[in-house]
Amino acid sequence: MRTVSDLVSEGVSGRAVLVRSDLNVPLDGETITDDGRIRASVPTISTLADAGARVLVTAHLGRPKGGADAKYSLAPVATRLGELLGKEVALVPHGKRPDLADGQVALLENIRFDPRETSKDDDQRAEFARELVDLVGPDAAFVSDGFGVVHRKQTSVYDVAQDLPAYAGGLVLSEVEVLQKLTGDPERPYAVVLGGSKVSDKLAVIEALLPKVDSLLVGGGMCFTFLAAQGYGVGSSLLESDQIDTSRKLLESGKIVLPTDVVVADRFAADAATKTVPVDAIEDGWMGLDIGPESVREFASVLAGARTVFWNGPMGVFEMAPFAEGTRGVAQAIVDATAKSGAFSVVGGGDSAAAVRALGLPEDGFSHISTGGGASLEFLEGKSLPGVAVLER
Ligand code: 3PG
Repeated sequence: MRTVSDLVSEGVSGRAVLVRSDLNVPLDGETITDDGRIRASVPTISTLADAGARVLVTAHLGRPKGGADAKYSLAPVATRLGELLGKEVALVPHGKRPDLADGQVALLENIRFDPRETSKDDDQRAEFARELVDLVGPDAAFVSDGFGVVHRKQTSVYDVAQDLPAYAGGLVLSEVEVLQKLTGDPERPYAVVLGGSKVSDKLAVIEALLPKVDSLLVGGGMCFTFLAAQGYGVGSSLLESDQIDTSRKLLESGKIVLPTDVVVADRFAADAATKTVPVDAIEDGWMGLDIGPESVREFASVLAGARTVFWNGPMGVFEMAPFAEGTRGVAQAIVDATAKSGAFSVVGGGDSAAAVRALGLPEDGFSHISTGGGASLEFLEGKSLPGVAVLER
């Protein structure tokens, strides 16, 4: 795999470089609520700009349907990227050619405003790729640095890498290197913490991980389907009835650790009435929105003995203060295991990375915080990631 350092050594001054970054950040209106992915994208972009390249960044925001939609504009991201780089980053509308001097950086408006980006039709994507190459010229290079999107076979991730000399960016390289440690021969005990709402979303990764891990700690909305599989009533908690049989089979592994108490609420709201109950006492009309303190202690004791930890998915609705303690407690236990027993700890992107920052936990308390939620899970499932495979050709 050729890397961005190879590209810089080849000499990049005056050359146009198309960089695919993952700048898909959460927004509240036009306010970025977590800029972690933008910060993680800065090193590769600034390395190229400092070497005199004319850098055009492409990225997506959300999943706009069928065309341009101001709600999904990358304008706030261009501003933040400019602040972090210490230079202005112009936002280039589709159809316009960027006018870049050596060392300048511009950001192309949300690449998904063109439906061909995500098309399943290879010809449509190839046509769009040629248009992107046209924007930067045939002598340009392509740097793939959007780790969070490498599991997508999309124009700006996959097809364009076939039309231009393609290089892996520093972020993609470091993410792949870390995740390879988990799929290779991780130090044992190896504990995985999984949360999030649905078992069905995580089924593939649970099946892939169970043979490799020593313990799989399950919290979040998905734990209620497992609790139902053990015969407990779950009130009005999230439940995937069609996954109960599958969950029962997974429990036969003997490696899945479930919460023993949960925080329940009478409705899904930050000001709901709440109480902590054992998992065999969830009453009708109450919904579990977090794991309880006893569960946090049990999860923490497993994590304290682990040498390798992977965590994906919050333990509860951490965005609402009454349901944040489970996620905070488990995250803190991972930080402690990293510091005290030297465990190698990886936070798998998305909500869990956002939770670390939102709850004020030290980012450097973990060995690695991935920028890719779906991408890191697919990597751990052992799937080939199109955006990485295309760089390995
Ligand atoms: C993510 O948020 O996981 C990545 O940016 C990929 O986004 P997507 O799931 O919309 O493809």
